[in-house]
Amino acid sequence: MAATRLTWREMAAGVWCAEVAEQSSPRLLDLAAGPPAREALATMPAAGFPLAGERTVSEQIAGRVVLRFPLRPDERLYGLGLQFRTLDARNSVRGLRMDHYGGQDNGRTHAPCPLYVSSGGYAVLVDAARTVTVHAGTAVRLDSTHPPRVLDRNRDADWTPNPVSDAVEIALSGPSVRVLVFGGPTPLDAVRRYVLYSGGGCLPPRWGLGFWHRVPLKFSDADVRREVADFREHGFPLEVLGLEPGWQSHSYPCTYQWDPERYPEPETLCRELLAQGIRLNLWENPYVSPEAEIHDALRPLAGSHAVWCGLVPDYALPEAREVLGRQHDREHLAIGVSGYKIDEVDGIDAWLWPDHATFPSGHTGEEVRQTYGLWLQKLLTELFRRRNRRTYGLVRGTNAGAAGYPYVVYSDCYDHREFIAGLCNSGFLGVLWTPEVRGAGSAEEWLRRIQSVCFSPLAMINAWADGTKPWSFPEVEHAVREAIGLRRRLLPYLYSAFARYHFDGTPPFRAMALEDPALEALDQYMMGDSLLVAPMFAGQQSRQVLLPPGRWADFYNGELVADAAEVTVTPGLERIPLFVRDGGILPLATDDDPTALEVRHYGRGEGTFVLYDDDGETYDYEQGAYNLTELRVTGDRDATTVPVRQSAPATYRRFEWRFMTQT
Ligand code: GAL
Repeated sequence: MAATRLTWREMAAGVWCAEVAEQSSPRLLDLAAGPPAREALATMPAAGFPLAGERTVSEQIAGRVVLRFPLRPDERLYGLGLQFRTLDARNSVRGLRMDHYGGQDNGRTHAPCPLYVSSGGYAVLVDAARTVTVHAGTAVRLDSTHPPRVLDRNRDADWTPNPVSDAVEIALSGPSVRVLVFGGPTPLDAVRRYVLYSGGGCLPPRWGLGFWHRVPLKFSDADVRREVADFREHGFPLEVLGLEPGWQSHSYPCTYQWDPERYPEPETLCRELLAQGIRLNLWENPYVSPEAEIHDALRPLAGSHAVWCGLVPDYALPEAREVLGRQHDREHLAIGVSGYKIDEVDGIDAWLWPDHATFPSGHTGEEVRQTYGLWLQKLLTELFRRRNRRTYGLVRGTNAGAAGYPYVVYSDCYDHREFIAGLCNSGFLGVLWTPEVRGAGSAEEWLRRIQSVCFSPLAMINAWADGTKPWSFPEVEHAVREAIGLRRRLLPYLYSAFARYHFDGTPPFRAMALEDPALEALDQYMMGDSLLVAPMFAGQQSRQVLLPPGRWADFYNGELVADAAEVTVTPGLERIPLFVRDGGILPLATDDDPTALEVRHYGRGEGTFVLYDDDGETYDYEQGAYNLTELRVTGDRDATTVPVRQSAPATYRRFEWRFMTQT
């Protein structure tokens, strides 16, 4: 069958869709947290269809549907699964498949989102819950309209093993598929459209952005009480305490029931912790033990294969969601549990069900694999929503369309540089990533890792295996406390950045390439609109930092750095390099008064920051119960604080301005 031109329909402002045959298999965006945020999309800058329509085609080839999209020689392609070593996926082949990351950017990863964002200012999503193979500018066709030059290796110095292709080719098991194109004009606009079309980004509860600590595998309630007391004695804050598999009576497979010996009175423990401002988060994986009370009810609703001898319930079935949901609500949510860590939904072939496994919903094993983490995020988020409580948790496997779910992706890999690259790349895909801290080979490494995690969506020590504590390396305890303290101070800024994720789709953590495609760094990133974070790695005394156009100031002392595209910094062990855009305004919490903010202005330029606040815990903001305050500085350092919306009790009443840069 010959290639057919795709027919594009505009679904919302700047979002187009084409369908090849009628799709009966599950689509990723059907699992999104909410419907497209049409109103927000309509306020974005106008965008025309970004591709040459006649060059967007599909073809049915040997049981596969193949798509082809035009590609210019200078385009860079970001995204294509959560990558940990690469920024630009161009010139590679990605087999996007749910898996634990195996050390190679080949498409097998914790978030195998079939989405690419072009430096040309648009994005393409293959909205299918299947393994998607993307030839990102590698497949050169004989009938190419812009063929690469034929070179001779014997004579031409610029001969390359990868002649430039004029197309992206995408193949997946056929015959149907739906594709979406998100317009720009900038790459960041395209990402924003994708996030908004998925319902907008998540807004975590305020406590979720505090400090987290996960305790060792087999901790008992007595161990937990001791750990909490230790935190207090050492003067470290703790907002969330995570329990690992030992809280359950059986794990791998799981019962989701409290172990009667280690946790005889979970309700009392939960209450005690909440009274100290500490929330519990529970580890689980989705494989149901024969010992679980809910096993028999789930047995007829499960797939054909077991994982760790446990059921794999088919959560596409409402009955299955109901069984797990009822048990979780009764035994966990009702006593105050704040959320979950959804482990092992990402794969490793030898553990998971095979692609030929069957499921009662009729979804194939491959489809369930690509979406299992999404189903669980949906189920658990909705459970909390029914109680009008926000949750925040972790998930090890997710996919496109998940921006609205309050879950942060993590991994068993542990390379610090890869972790930061993951943080940069997560922003393209509408997912959140944490470079969680477990152990370290030296005090220096410990501190460097803690500094980075404090500038991420989830500031957490995962001591499940190592039993580490923030003070595990006494020689840097004081600097660790400072890093955690800085995160706490930046919370009003970070919370407002998340509000932007929700309301206008801007990812709170994102690669420099979304500021300027020329900035190819994978070891520095933006947190919110004004703060540039450049982590240090063990063994490094100094590093280079790429600065986007405009002037930048040092966060700590407000000094403007040289007006250059690149600077070298030697920050010392105690500090993580941070830079603020000229005119940047950062609202910082103060230590003594929770209603007071220190509002810092950096550089010499004018600037505006929209401070968001609400009750921090419920979904009432969706009904409009939130406040917006415009913090503005005009040319002659005239600072104003203008309430632009007041629809909830105000969190902040005092604003103390501080001009960080000397005139
Ligand atoms: C791993 C997970 C770890 C820890 C452990 C407990 O799969 O990534 O963070 O939870 O399981 O068994």
